[in-house]
Amino acid sequence: MKKKTVYVCSNCGYDTVKWMGQCPNCGEWNTLSEFSVSENKRNNFGDEKSIRKNKPMAIADIDVNAEIRIKSGIEEFDRVLGGGIVKGSLTLISGEPGIGKSTLLLQACQKLADENSVLYISGEESPAQIKIRAERTGVTSDNIKILAETNLEDIVFTAKEENPSFIIIDSVQTIYDPKLPSAPGSVTQVRECTMALMQLAKQNEISVFLVGHVNKDGNIAGPKIMEHMVDTVLYFEGEKHISYRLLRAAKNRFGSTNEIGLFEMTAEGLKDVSNPSAALLSGRPENVSGSCVAATLEGTRPMLSEIQGLVTKTVYGSGRRTAAGVDYNRAVLLLAILEKRVGMMLSSYDAYINVVGGLRLDEPAIDMAVAVSIASSYLDKPVSADVVLFGEIGLSGEVRAVSGAVQRIQEIKRLGYKKCILPEGCRADVRNIEGIELVFVKDISQAIKAAI
Ligand code: TYD
Ligand code: MG
Repeated sequence: MKKKTVYVCSNCGYDTVKWMGQCPNCGEWNTLSEFSVSENKRNNFGDEKSIRKNKPMAIADIDVNAEIRIKSGIEEFDRVLGGGIVKGSLTLISGEPGIGKSTLLLQACQKLADENSVLYISGEESPAQIKIRAERTGVTSDNIKILAETNLEDIVFTAKEENPSFIIIDSVQTIYDPKLPSAPGSVTQVRECTMALMQLAKQNEISVFLVGHVNKDGNIAGPKIMEHMVDTVLYFEGEKHISYRLLRAAKNRFGSTNEIGLFEMTAEGLKDVSNPSAALLSGRPENVSGSCVAATLEGTRPMLSEIQGLVTKTVYGSGRRTAAGVDYNRAVLLLAILEKRVGMMLSSYDAYINVVGGLRLDEPAIDMAVAVSIASSYLDKPVSADVVLFGEIGLSGEVRAVSGAVQRIQEIKRLGYKKCILPEGCRADVRNIEGIELVFVKDISQAIKAAI
């Protein structure tokens, strides 16, 4: 076997034989670092002597055992996974350090351990630390074994010896394959370790969870490079100082993506939030300008959340804008539309937009609520307390139809709101709905008039 040198980008995993200052794939600077890899020469393609293990099969002849799902007992977690954990699947849970990944998985162990054995492998915390956390969150089962180990060979060996139903690896950035020269957390290590764990999961029918930290620091391989290898990718997000946490499926080979689960971090660990709309709207101020309620659809789940806008006369030349929980560029665009199409002179105002609860809403259907909250603050007139809005806004100020109007309205009704402002384009979808006043609007000026 010959040794070959390659340069691998620590940001995106791109590899090249030549060193470059800038990665041609992702455009990051100084992220290429050197690795030596063994070149396994295989020039016996098509040779009779090459050994074949797998033969092609007619699709009709393939045996499928109905996929077996095991519930973790944490409702929000199961929902995001598409109804439970699939046997032999590999799931990546990524998120910023300290967001609650270890806590979530430890809590999931409790119910899983009722009927299955669980092996929790930690490269970050000592068994004593894990025990303290387990006690605090009420995880007491005897079927949970803890192992503090970072060597991949030992991990795979122990896993085969113990043969548990579930393995949790916390975190993938701390484990290393001793055969590779690079440090734990580097692109090569993360990639190879994930591969090995994938094989472990598939061959032994063990469901494996990997924790992966997302870090802005280029030296740590982001979980991005693992996404194509694993079956399911979950993102755990939220603001550290706000207690709500959002679990989102970014990829799921066994269910729909964009499902979300909402949790609250308490002193006793994470708690399911089964009625997110009510939780997110609690404490909403009444009769104050700059606040309104948007109906969003996350996956298949409708959710109401409060959007706040604040505009103040700028002290500098041009107004500054900040957006928390909504896309910054989208927010700037909506401000420009309000200026051009409605005539609000917002360029000489500072504007702040915030989604209450620390959630991030990327759906264009919140456009109307964002625009109306800004308009309400600009006019200093409150939005009627029993109104909810949804609809996308186009560049000419027109309000465009969005999907899922019926689900959104049902949620609005469930929470007791009396009036919904929605796009004219949704009229046909919602003709059978009763018990709520529906106001159809064609453009942003009509929406502002109806809401304020
Ligand atoms: P952790 O699960 O360690 O995060 P991660 O594994 O994603 O790095 O969560 C750490 C945070 O959660 C920490 O800031 C403390 C907080 N926390 C609570 O508020 N209550 C609890 O019961 C637990 C276990 C943690
Ligand atoms: Mg952790």
